[in-house]
Amino acid sequence: MTRISIIVAASEDQAIGKNGDLLWRMPADMKHFKTLTTGHTIIMGRKTFDSLPKGALPNRTNIVLTRNPEATFANCIVCSNLQQALDHCAGEDEVFIIGGSQIYEQAMKLADRIYLTRVDASFPDADARFPMIEPTEWQVTDEASFPADEKNPYAYHFITYDRLS
Ligand SMILES: NC(=O)c1ccc[n+]([C@@H]2O[C@H](COP(=O)([O-])OP(=O)(O)OC[C@H]3O[C@@H](n4cnc5c(N)ncnc54)[C@H](OP(=O)(O)O)[C@@H]3O)[C@@H](O)[C@H]2O)c1
Repeated sequence: MTRISIIVAASEDQAIGKNGDLLWRMPADMKHFKTLTTGHTIIMGRKTFDSLPKGALPNRTNIVLTRNPEATFANCIVCSNLQQALDHCAGEDEVFIIGGSQIYEQAMKLADRIYLTRVDASFPDADARFPMIEPTEWQVTDEASFPADEKNPYAYHFITYDRLS
C-alpha cells in the first residue's frame, strides 16, 4: 500500500500562508522538507505551484491539481482531482501532499501520516490555515524540538502523526 503523507509547516494558530506565499523563511524546515520528499511524488494545488519561485521541485515527480482542463505546468503532471493524482502513485511506497490549505482540507481524511513542522509563533492575519489535527484520530509517533537560531527566526518542532487505527 502506498502511504499517503501530508507534509506541512504551521504556526501555533494553524497558519500556513498569506497572499499566496509562506509566512516565514526557515531553512531548517526547507532542508527537512527536501530530505523527506526527494525521490518521491509530491502533490500540490495550483496556487502552491504558482508560489514556487523556480517552478517544479527537482528530483521529485510533481503533480499539480487544477480544475482548468487547459492548464499545463512545466515539468509537472496535471490532475483534475486528488484521487486521480493518488491513482497515479499506485505502487509507490510513499506519496507527499504538500499543500496548500484547499488540498490539505481534502487530503486529511485520506492521509495515513502527517509530518508537521510546528512553528512557535502566531499569525492572526494569515489567509491560509491547516485543519485541526484531531487527537481522537491521530497519535504522535515522533517529535524533535529545536530553538530559534541565527538562520531560523522561530523555535520549531518536527512532529510525526500517524492515523490511529
Ligand atoms: N506552510 C506550508 O507548509 C505551506 C505548504 C503549501 C502551501 N502553503 C501556502 O498555502 C497557500 C496556498 O493555499 P491555497 O489553499 O490558497 O491554494 P492551494 O490548495 O495550493 O491550491 C488551490 C487550487 O488547487 C486547485 N484545486 C483545489 N481542489 C481541487 C480539486 N479537488 N481538484 C482539482 N483541482 C483542485 C484549484 O486550482 P484552479 O484554480 O487552477 O482550478 C485551486 O484554486 C499559499 O499561501 C502557500 O504559500 C503553505
